[in-house]
Amino acid sequence: MNYDFDTIIARRGTDCEKWDLPAEDGVLPLWVADMDFRAAPAIVDALCRRVEEGVFGYALPSGSWHESLVRWLNVRHRWQVSSDTVIDAIGVVPALASVIRAFCSPGDKVIVQTPAYNCFFATIRNQGCDVLENPLRRVPVREDNEGDFTYEMDFEDLERKVADPRVKLFLLCNPHNPTGRAWTAEELRTVGEICLRHGVFVASDEIHADLQMPASRHVPFASLSEEFRNASLTFWSASKAFNLAGLQTAAIICSDPEVRGRVRHFLKVHCTGEINPFGFLASSVAWDRCSDWLDALRAYLHENYLTLLGFVRTRLPLLKVAALETTYLAWVDATALGLSSAELSCQLEREAKVKFSPGAIYGEPKGYSFLRINLACPRKTLLEALDRIAAWTSSAGLWTTSSRAPSPPSSR
Ligand SMILES: Cc1ncc(COP(=O)(O)O)c(C=O)c1O
Repeated sequence: MNYDFDTIIARRGTDCEKWDLPAEDGVLPLWVADMDFRAAPAIVDALCRRVEEGVFGYALPSGSWHESLVRWLNVRHRWQVSSDTVIDAIGVVPALASVIRAFCSPGDKVIVQTPAYNCFFATIRNQGCDVLENPLRRVPVREDNEGDFTYEMDFEDLERKVADPRVKLFLLCNPHNPTGRAWTAEELRTVGEICLRHGVFVASDEIHADLQMPASRHVPFASLSEEFRNASLTFWSASKAFNLAGLQTAAIICSDPEVRGRVRHFLKVHCTGEINPFGFLASSVAWDRCSDWLDALRAYLHENYLTLLGFVRTRLPLLKVAALETTYLAWVDATALGLSSAELSCQLEREAKVKFSPGAIYGEPKGYSFLRINLACPRKTLLEALDRIAAWTSSAGLWTTSSRAPSPPSSR
């Protein structure tokens, strides 16, 4: 079946964060991580039928959505989990807050690999805890890869930091937002062994797991061994891959019954464990009936990524693009433009009418300037946004010749 990802849907004026936050009309918003595509037809049909029932009282999920998730993990990711290990939550970020409460007291530390998804920082600090950074290392791409550079983990630094007695949790982002890395089994095994050696529990955020580029495979951290499974929990949701974020439904998969009990307790304390009827219906239809839609989406997103690379190489050659293995979020090094990421994103929004997320909110390395570009839009929108950057950079005289560009700081 053919699916349409090319139609431009008017989202401004629909109470939509991505399109309605920019103050001015006409801004193309390629920032927050949702997609400008309609959900899969099977999901829309199921939701319409549910709406026609016309009664929207308190829900009691029967557990069949857990069965859908369990089948999905098994078939799609070769990961066997039991449905009684699944906990409901109204989102990964709310679930993370409860997990932090379940493991940490105020003043404890949570390790995060930076640059990192911006909400990790606030969620950890809002629980009275500290972020301990384990910065990723920028490295050249392998020859067969499509981007300009990539990242690897710094295991020595991790081993040192995990040994801090105030560290109670390692927050893994697998795959990683914003760098686009899909961690390999070998990398995850090394992380797991380091954490096991120091008795640090792993919380693995796998919300982007279903969005692999064609050459990548997702490896669920907990699938690698029984020891890892028992010393970790996993956040999962259909929200990113199937564009259901507004339905606020996620799952925590946790095999240790004692930890499960503690996490459930804090979800109750925070009132974040009761999901809504549309969210679990849409999620289970996604996992039961929408794998071909997802594959078509992934192919489209890959073409968008290649479009970005092609455009950057010919028209914006001073930008460098991280190899994108998973997610629809391109991590772009714009340091050579000579502006901080906050200044650059502000000027791009005000003058070029394109909105991207500035690297500063993800904890980009000092002295660098990154943009995160959301590629989940019709190709025409992406090309229009790229054209606007190219026109603006040349009219602002930011880089008429590459010799004028400042040299980037040395990598750390
Ligand atoms: C890594 C990661 N975790 C969690 C979230 C948000 O999850 P939720 O909307 O379920 O709270 C995002 C959103 O972009 C994300 O990138």
